[in-house]
Amino acid sequence: MSLVDPMHLGWQMAALSRDVRRRPVQRVVAGVPVALFRSNGRIGALVDRCPHRNFPLSQGRVAENGLTCPYHGWRFAADGTCVAVPGCTLGEAEGRRLSAKPVAVYEAHGAVFVRLADTPDVPAAPTLRAPFGSDGFDHFWWDQGEWRGTAFDAIENVMDPFHTSELHHGLIRRRDRRQPVTLTVENFERGIEMTIDQSRPDSGIMSRLLEGERTRSRTRYDAPAAVQAVWESRHGLTLCVTAFFTPVGKHSFRPFACFTTPRGILPAVVKQWGLKAFLMPVVKQDRSALAAQAEVVARFGAMRYAQGPGDILGNRIHRLYQGGALMPGITDRLAADL
Ligand code: FES
Ligand SMILES: [Fe+2]
Repeated sequence: MSLVDPMHLGWQMAALSRDVRRRPVQRVVAGVPVALFRSNGRIGALVDRCPHRNFPLSQGRVAENGLTCPYHGWRFAADGTCVAVPGCTLGEAEGRRLSAKPVAVYEAHGAVFVRLADTPDVPAAPTLRAPFGSDGFDHFWWDQGEWRGTAFDAIENVMDPFHTSELHHGLIRRRDRRQPVTLTVENFERGIEMTIDQSRPDSGIMSRLLEGERTRSRTRYDAPAAVQAVWESRHGLTLCVTAFFTPVGKHSFRPFACFTTPRGILPAVVKQWGLKAFLMPVVKQDRSALAAQAEVVARFGAMRYAQGPGDILGNRIHRLYQGGALMPGITDRLAADL
């Protein structure tokens, strides 16, 4: 068994690109504070601890070729190498010995990802699934800061359609007007997908106002932290939400969501405001549910989840989240009323 925290093995989204400018920023990812900065057009990520006297590097200033610690002025390049100790001569070997700990960093489509553990078997880049970032679509990010609860419970919440008739009654679906759907589950080695086929849009007000028709929605989890939900009609994509759930500490996480819509008549900014306005009450309900759930789990010391007839993903999300793999293929089909 690996002694490395599984949350440190995969890529985790740490920040929006637009939040990492000339001043360094600190983001805590799975318990580890990371200083993110840009220098010489390159993005750098270092564990937020100066190797000299452990001052937080994120409080430093960006210099031409690195980040300067504000305590004694040591300067570190984006790969962590110490490149200057003010008042002294520094040899190359000495500079390497005095390195700050670098963190692998990857930037794409307005997002900054980090990978804390540098074991050779983990992928060189995060799994990013189209249409996230694809040309020809409108995209916008929604970063809501830190939430109470766990990234795992948030991922399960997004993958689970059954709570939408109860918790989001009236908004997404209605508990008193359920309709027949077919759920199909497909395993991938490091992910799982749930497809919902239905002949009418959801009974909640959001679907009725926003969607003309709907035939299919798919939710795909790619371990450790990405969930993509896609809504489709006969004419193609209606909406895609790609979310990254970054664990912060034991009891908090940070969700980043990117919304993708086909280009149409409505300007992107109008769609952005409209979607946010409609989704805000749903997001609030999920946010308080996850916080309430986390409180109970904390009080009892550990989670203890029963699997009901609708929980067709069983403990597979948990297995993937913990770094495990699945046997690929379609595994379940369930007729249910949502
Ligand atoms: S603590 Fe950073 S330079 Fe001394
Ligand atoms: Fe929800």
